[in-house]
Amino acid sequence: MNTVKIILNSLRIIKNFPKMLKHDIFWTYFQLRRSRLIKTKESELAVLLVDSHVLEKGLTMPNRRLGFGQQRVRNLVKYINEYISNYDASPIQVQAALNDLAEYLAVHKKASFALPEDIVKGIENLMRYRLDEQENFSIPCTAESYFVEDVDFEKFSFSRRSLRHYSNDKVDIDRVIDAIRIAQNAPSACNRQATRVKIIQSKEAKEYVLSIQNGTRGFGHLADKILLVSTDMSNWAPVDRNSAFLDAGIFTMNLLYALHYKHIAACPLNADMGSKLVKEIHKRLNIPMSEIPVCFITIGNASKEFLVAKSQRIDIENVYSIV
Ligand SMILES: Cc1cc2nc3c(=O)[nH]c(=O)nc-3n(C[C@H](O)[C@H](O)[C@H](O)COP(=O)(O)O)c2cc1C
Repeated sequence: MNTVKIILNSLRIIKNFPKMLKHDIFWTYFQLRRSRLIKTKESELAVLLVDSHVLEKGLTMPNRRLGFGQQRVRNLVKYINEYISNYDASPIQVQAALNDLAEYLAVHKKASFALPEDIVKGIENLMRYRLDEQENFSIPCTAESYFVEDVDFEKFSFSRRSLRHYSNDKVDIDRVIDAIRIAQNAPSACNRQATRVKIIQSKEAKEYVLSIQNGTRGFGHLADKILLVSTDMSNWAPVDRNSAFLDAGIFTMNLLYALHYKHIAACPLNADMGSKLVKEIHKRLNIPMSEIPVCFITIGNASKEFLVAKSQRIDIENVYSIV
C-alpha cells in the first residue's frame, strides 16, 4: 500500500471513530466484564461446566498421564461443595462434574496410582450427591464405530464429537477441500460469504499455531493439519460486526459436519486472542489484515481406538423458553 493510501485510510478511520463508539463496542465489553464479576447461580454453574470439561478432556487424552490435574481437581471439589451448600446437587452441571470426579478416581484406582489423601477423601465425600451412580464415563470408540454411514440427520449429528486422537497418516488435501466445498453451502447474511479457511500443513506453521493457541496440550502435536477459519472484515460495516462472527460460526459448524462426513477427525479450537497476537498471526501465516481469526480446527485421520469426552449437554429447559 502506498503512503497516500495509508494516510487516506487512517483519516477515514479517525473520521469514523465517533460512529464506532455509537455502535456500543465498549458497552458490549462492559456487559461481558460485569457478568464475570457478579456471581449468580448461572455463572457458578457455568464455571462448574467448564472446569469439569477440562478434567473430562484430560481423562480422554492420548497418552494420558496418571496423577494429572490435581490442583484442578481440588478446585473442582471446592466449587462443587460451595455450590451444593448454597443451592443443591440436582443440576446437570453438578452431576456431570461429580461423574467426572468419579471417573478420575476410578481410573487412578484401576491403575493402582496413589492419589493424595485429600483428593481421594474430597471426591469420596461428594459421591453421596450423585443421583445416578451408574458408570457414565468417557466413550470408548474405534475409527470404524465412530464414522457412521447412511443414517438419518439426528443420528449423524449425535455421532459427531470433538476428536483429539489422530493417527500418523496424512489427510489427503482433496478430502479437506471437498469438505470446505460442502461447508460453503452455509447460509450467510445477504449471501456475503465472507468466511475464509486457511489449510495449515507446514510443520513450522503448525508449530507456531500450537504455540499460541491455549487449548491443544496433549493432542495438538498429533494433528496432521490445522484449519484457520476467519471472517474477511472488508465485507462488513461496523453495525454488521456480530453477523461477521455469526456467519463464520454457521460456516464452521457446517464444516465440522462436512469433515465428519468425509471421515476426517476434527476438534474446533478457540481463537480468543488480543489484537497484538492477531497482528502477529497475520504476519506469521501470511494472511490479509482484513481477515480476523474466528477459530482453529485440528484435523487428522482417527486413531484405531480412542476415548471421547462425554461433554454432557445441559437440560433442554435451560435452552429454550416460550414467549
Ligand atoms: C469455539 C470453540 C472453541 C473450542 N476450543 C477448544 C480448545 O481450545 N481446546 C479443545 O480441546 N477443545 C475446544 N473446543 C471443543 C469443545 O470442548 C467441544 O466442542 C465441547 O466440549 C462439546 O463437545 P463435542 O464437540 O464433542 O460435542 C472448542 C469448541 C468450540 C465450538
